[in-house]
This record gives sequence, C-alpha cells and structure tokens, in this order.
Amino acid sequence: MCGIVGYIGHREAYPIILNGLKRLEYRGYDSAGIALFDGEDIKLSKTKGKVNDLETKIESEISTNGTLGIGHTRWATHGIPNDVNSHPHYSNSGNLVIIHNGIIENYESLKKELIKRGYSFTSDTDTEILINLIEDVKLKENVKLGKAVQIALNQVVGAYAVAVFDKDKPNEIVVAKLGSPLAIGIGDNEFFIASDATPFLEYTKNAIYLEDEEMAIIRRHKDVEIRKIKDDSLVNPYVQELQMNLEQIEKGGYDHFMLKEIFEQPSAIKDTYRGRLLSKEAIIKMAGVEDNMKRFLNAERIIFVACGTSWHAGLVAEYIFEDLVRIPVEVEYASEFRYRNPVIKENDVVIAISQSGETADTLAAIKLAKSKGAFVFGVCNVVGSSIARESDAGAYTHAGPEIGVASTKAFTTQITLLTLIALRLARAKGTISSSNYRLHLLELEMIPEKVKAALKSDNLIKKIADIYKDVPNFLYLGRGYNFPVALEGALKLKEISYIHAEGYPAAEMKHGPIALIDENMPIVVIATKKGHYDKIVSNIQEIKSRKGRIIAIVTEGDTTVKELADHVIEVPETLELLTPLLTTIPLQLLSYHIAVMLEKNVDQPRNLAKSVTVE
Ligand code: AGP
Ligand code: GLU
Repeated sequence: MCGIVGYIGHREAYPIILNGLKRLEYRGYDSAGIALFDGEDIKLSKTKGKVNDLETKIESEISTNGTLGIGHTRWATHGIPNDVNSHPHYSNSGNLVIIHNGIIENYESLKKELIKRGYSFTSDTDTEILINLIEDVKLKENVKLGKAVQIALNQVVGAYAVAVFDKDKPNEIVVAKLGSPLAIGIGDNEFFIASDATPFLEYTKNAIYLEDEEMAIIRRHKDVEIRKIKDDSLVNPYVQELQMNLEQIEKGGYDHFMLKEIFEQPSAIKDTYRGRLLSKEAIIKMAGVEDNMKRFLNAERIIFVACGTSWHAGLVAEYIFEDLVRIPVEVEYASEFRYRNPVIKENDVVIAISQSGETADTLAAIKLAKSKGAFVFGVCNVVGSSIARESDAGAYTHAGPEIGVASTKAFTTQITLLTLIALRLARAKGTISSSNYRLHLLELEMIPEKVKAALKSDNLIKKIADIYKDVPNFLYLGRGYNFPVALEGALKLKEISYIHAEGYPAAEMKHGPIALIDENMPIVVIATKKGHYDKIVSNIQEIKSRKGRIIAIVTEGDTTVKELADHVIEVPETLELLTPLLTTIPLQLLSYHIAVMLEKNVDQPRNLAKSVTVE
C-alpha cells in the first residue's frame, strides 16, 4: 500500500498533489516526494518521514510552480525508508520520473541486465529498476513514452500502479495498473490520477478506475487513451460519477478500517508470498533465509518471541515448524521472556514476530537474545522498523498498513510467511518429501481464493452475532493447529467488544472450564475435518450434554457437526497446516459484527494502542 497522486491541466499542480498526498497518508507512509515540471525542467524533492516533512523541505528546496506533477507516499517493500529510496525516481538520463505502488518481483534479474547495459542505480528500490527499464526500451526501440511503458511492463512480474512523465513531452502522463489501485479523475480541461479518489473528489466526481493490465496515456487539454498492456488494444473508458464521500473512500467503502483489512486478506496473503513462492519451479526463495540457512539448520532450538496476536501467530508456527522442520520450538511472551533470565544458547535461533516492528517488549527480548549470542530473525510488517533493524536478518509481511488496532491481516500474513520459512527449511533439511512440499506450495497458492470463499459467510455471521451480542462471556475451543486460532478468536472479541472471552485447548475442557458451561454460555468450537476431528466431535457432544450453545467452524460439507451445533460456519477444505488461515476468518467477522452491534469504537477500542511502544 502507499499513495500515488498526479495532475496535468491548467492549475498549479503542487498544492493539488501535496493535499492529495495528505489525504492518502492513511495508506501508509514512511517517506514522501513530489516531482513537478516547471516548463523547462523537472524539479523533484523527497524525504523520509511524513507529508508535512516533505512540505517543509520542498518549499526550501525547489520552486513549486508547474501544471504537471506526480507525488508519492511510500510504504516500503524494497529498500529501507530513507531519502534516497523515496519516490519519485529519475531514470539515468534524468528525463523520466516515476512513482510506483506495488512490488516488482523480478527486479533483481532486470537490474542485472540493465547494469550490463550501463545503467546505474542510486536507490535500493525495485521501482528505480522499472523507470530505467522504461528508458532503456524508449531509447532502444526509439518509441514514445506510452509505447515504452507498455513494452517494459510486459517484461515485469509483480504488482504496480505507476505514473511516469517525460520532461521532453510535458503534455502527457502515462499510467498503468496491475494489482494496485489507480483512479483517473476527469476534470474540466484537467486530469488527476491517484490511488483512490480522495485527492481529487473536491475537483471532480467523474472517475475512471483502471482495470488490471490496463494503461492510459493522459494528454493535457485532450483525452485519456486507455489500452491493454498485453496487446496494446484500445479500451473504451468507463467514466463513473462517484457517490462516496472522503471518509468512505479512505475505508474502501467499508464502515471501518478493520472490516476493510479483514477483506484485504486475500490480496495481503498473495502479496506476502508474491515473488517468494514459485510453485511451478517448486521453489521458495527468501534472501533472509537463504543467506542464513546454516544458522537455521544448525539450530538446536527455535524460540518465537512476540506479543498479542503476533504471539498467537508464533503458536501456530510452533506447530508448523515442529511438524515440518523437526527442530524443537518454544513460544515466549516477549514481556515474560525478557525478565525471567531465560537460558539462551549461541546456537538458538530467535524469531521475533511483530506487525508494527515497534513493540517495546519484543524489541527488548531480541536485544537480550542477541546479547547472549543467539541469531535473531525478524518477521515484521513495517520496513525499517526498530525490530527489523535490530534483527540480524528478516523477512517482511506485505500486508500493507494495518490501521485497525485489532490485528487481522497481520495475523494471516505472519502465518503465511512463517509457513514459507518452515517449508523452505524442511526442504533444506530433507524432512519433507518433494511431493508433499509441492503439495503445500500449490495449496498455499489456493489460499487467497479460499479466504475469499470463507468471507462469503459474512451475512450468516452477522445473524449469529445478533443472537449472541449481549452475552457476558464466550468460550473458544480448538485442537492442534486450531488451538492458537481459538486463543486469537477470543482476543479479537475481547479487545473490540469488551465481552470476556477465553480460548482453550478443546481437550482441556474436562480439566475445569466445563464447569462454566450451561445454556447461557456460547462456545465457539473450531471443528474442521483435519486433525483430531473425532476428538473434537466428542468435545462438542460433552458441551451439548450440558446445554452449551455451540457455534462451530466446520469444513464445508460437514454433516456430522451440523447435527450437533446450534450454528455452523463453513470454511473450504485445505491442508491441516493451513487451516488457521481460513478458520480465523469467521472469528474475525464474528467479533467485528458483535462490536459494531454494541456500538463500540471498532478501529480504536478503549485503552488500546496500535503499537505498544511502552513497557
Ligand atoms: C491484537 O489485535 C492487538 N493489536 C495486539 O495484541 C498486538 O497484536 C500486539 O500488541 C503486538 O503488536 P505487534 O504485532 O505490532 O508487535
Ligand atoms: N516497492 C516500491 C518500494 O519499495 C513501492 C512500495 C510502495 O508501494 O510504496 O519503493
């Protein structure tokens, strides 16, 4: 996620772009930049930090006149947040500039080829590769910018929403889209481009939303020519009149950021394995793992340290890693680990999991581990965050900014990334057969579509939420891979609806909690067909015989549990190890709808912060 804005028309571009970037900051920012054409040359200013920091810097750095310009707020994926890695990026000649939202997966091979052809690079970003590929095509094929962009993008694998202009042709902007959003605002003798309509809604409500694999050449005082990137065929533009207001657009039309982020999970999971999971070649590649393979394979123990939802992801990872990699795993609350004088050995591998990358207890825990000689690997969602920088190596989830305090897409993308790491290590250790390895890779690629299928139960879940929204307590039960999901489901409900909820291993019921069960207690039971299905069915029967009210998460087509439970919510079948990615979806939606019905502040629940940077 990030924000792109552009303008070409009769007004001064700078104030439109600057305000547009401020409107897009909710999409994530770690740096910002603007490039303007002032009638003679390109003027460009960019900086690490927020748009306000850019505003302070730009006005002392460049003249901000000009009626053509592009601007960007960055959510880094390749290259830490700093001035040099900020967008826009120049081509080597200085004639072209680009802004980009997305990930160029094959940037390394493209970079090698361009270096051979004499190109040099100042940043660590994948984006700078793209603008120089476009320049290379433009010069070699002697074509206009639009054609060069089209040819170049046919060599690119990845996701993008890009805007490019050429200082020698200042009457056009070229844009293109695949996997990241791009809207074109059609004004009166002026055109706007942006990641969503918030930057130009005050100027025009007429917009064209490019479809995937479409590009557009936007000509000043003239028109918008839309073409298919693949075959250059013309596309008739569909101009729609926008009905949403600013706030609705920021939330993607959803009522809350949390709901938007729940529904973003198919694309967030895909973005997390994008460029890392190559199922056709049956390979997984992650530089942070490859470069430290010996450390991982020689580890006598892997210790996950995290807090909250990230700790639940670590618990899922314990089951995955021990199942696949056969290395002993411990999962530690970072806040406990850092103070209890733990035994840490030099050949321990500590994996820190943190969405924000700023959680104080987790940061302190890895500093302690490093001081004892352990190797620390960071799994974060924020590039360049403190935990990422403190770790010896790491890999980023590509969930995009998570605005809702209650973690949702962070959880599923953490599990996705940890599954990739475990599979890669198991392959290297030979603890997984090549057929089983390939099976897991192919099934992991199916997960985004299966998450979409699980999301289709939203209306049913809303009805169930309405029945149970006023209860004082909930129990969540799961076994095996789904025991951590039960804990996570309970946390979701607690933190946004303020209803007390407890997650438990289903088999632990008879060791105490079963005393809680009567006709007033709703129990959510994760009872998918994989794992100890028969055992969980008998747990359900135990509950039923005590009049507990059962909400069961089942594998689609299950008829057995349907006979026993008061409500069943189906999720698609998948491999046992991947079930948490699906079973957590209905639990996220259940907690969301209950909280909304109780009129709670879903995105900013009381007493909570998105990142707990205090101890
Ligand atoms: C979960 O919904 C909460 N937002 C909270 O438990 C969170 O997971 C925890 O504070 C850890 O945050 P981190 O992943 O940014 O380190
Ligand atoms: N992958 C590009 C970068 O890291 C773009 C990231 C974004 O979408 O902001 O600079």
